[in-house]
Amino acid sequence: MKSVTRYREAQPSLFASIFVVLAVFVIGVRGLRNVSIDIPLAVAAGSTVNMSCRYDLESDNLYTVKWYKGPEFFRYIPKEMPPISVFGELGNKVLVQRSGAHHVILKNLQPNHTGKYRCEVSGDSPSFNTIMVSAYMYVANLPKSDPQVRVEKIRYAVGDTVRGNCTVPSGNPPANVTWTVNGVPVNSSFMMNVTDKIIDNQQLMTIAGLDFEIIPDSFNNGRLHIICHANVFHLYKKQADVELIEERPRLASVLGTRESSYIGTFYRTIYNYIRTAFNRSNFFSLNIV
Ligand SMILES: *[C@@H]1O[C@H](CO)[C@@H](O)[C@H](O)[C@H]1NC(C)=O
Ligand SMILES: *[C@@H]1O[C@H](CO)[C@@H](O)[C@H](O)[C@H]1NC(C)=O
Ligand SMILES: *[C@@H]1O[C@H](CO)[C@@H](O)[C@H](O)[C@H]1NC(C)=O
Ligand SMILES: *[C@@H]1O[C@H](CO)[C@@H](O)[C@H](O)[C@H]1NC(C)=O
Ligand SMILES: *[C@@H]1O[C@H](CO)[C@@H](O)[C@H](O)[C@H]1NC(C)=O
Ligand SMILES: *[C@@H]1O[C@H](CO)[C@@H](O)[C@H](O)[C@H]1NC(C)=O
Ligand SMILES: *[C@@H]1O[C@H](CO)[C@@H](O)[C@H](O)[C@H]1NC(C)=O
Repeated sequence: MKSVTRYREAQPSLFASIFVVLAVFVIGVRGLRNVSIDIPLAVAAGSTVNMSCRYDLESDNLYTVKWYKGPEFFRYIPKEMPPISVFGELGNKVLVQRSGAHHVILKNLQPNHTGKYRCEVSGDSPSFNTIMVSAYMYVANLPKSDPQVRVEKIRYAVGDTVRGNCTVPSGNPPANVTWTVNGVPVNSSFMMNVTDKIIDNQQLMTIAGLDFEIIPDSFNNGRLHIICHANVFHLYKKQADVELIEERPRLASVLGTRESSYIGTFYRTIYNYIRTAFNRSNFFSLNIV
């Protein structure tokens, strides 16, 4: 003990500096940390949004929470009365009664509120840490109605080219369009964003083209089901579809192999004529046989 005391008396500055280093180390670890922002990726225009900023103060006290979109629009200082201040056009959208240290509630957001939102948290003594985090949010004007598919015609034979397009009514941002043909994804042949000047020149209509050649395997039971999928994030998910029909030479489609073996050329012609003129019926085939 005595030797230790003597040692401390002899080296006071060394002990003091070790204490300071340890204290800074310990407090540094235990101060403000784990700051994260939680806002939706996309919402529809007119929505009310609950934005969260989470953090662990540990041994710190909270000094401020500030929110920015470009300039600051919200500030929370627990030591002030009232603790909340709001600024600018976005500040006027804050529901102050429902907002606080961890949440900001914004009402009636519009597409021009799309952008990067930042939350900045500052601890008070002893660490005075400040941490900023950010996330991007889209405020979307959704298309007012469903997409539409157009094709040149409905009946196709092997070797024909299917040409069509899918139009999604205007919105901001424009919709993503994808195609499936009998369930298989197919690339668009073109994609256009068209300004809809009548509604609002910020809004874009999307037109996607489809262009592919029919091969022998294209049809499934003589049918080809084309679907246009139009999405705007998770907010608008619509489909439009059309069913194309296989066109075959008449004999092959009307007469089965079994019937052909029973019926001679002359009768087959008559049979074919009757069946085309009237309706298919077992009565005719039995009679002819
Ligand atoms: C905002 O969301 C949080 C959960 O993330 C919830 O605890 C809080 O009550 C919500 N605030 C409002 C005003 O809806
Ligand atoms: C967003 O647009 C509205 C009109 O729709 C306008 O009043 C407001 O000032 C705009 N806000 C910003 C940040 O541009
Ligand atoms: C879309 O398809 C329809 C029908 O085939 C056609 O009349 C129209 O010109 C096409 N539009 C575009 C932009 O390709
Ligand atoms: C579709 O496009 C992608 C990327 O542009 C390409 O890798 C793929 O091969 C295309 N698929 C077809 C069936 O053309
Ligand atoms: C259409 O607009 C979207 C979003 O603005 C963009 O990502 C896309 O590349 C555009 N497509 C075309 C063909 O211009
Ligand atoms: C369109 O698709 C891309 C790629 O999947 C995605 O990153 C983007 O957010 C989508 N845009 C819209 C408006 O849904
Ligand atoms: C033939 O008649 C039946 C009922 O008698 C009907 O269901 C069927 O659609 C008709 N087929 C054609 C091709 O007209």
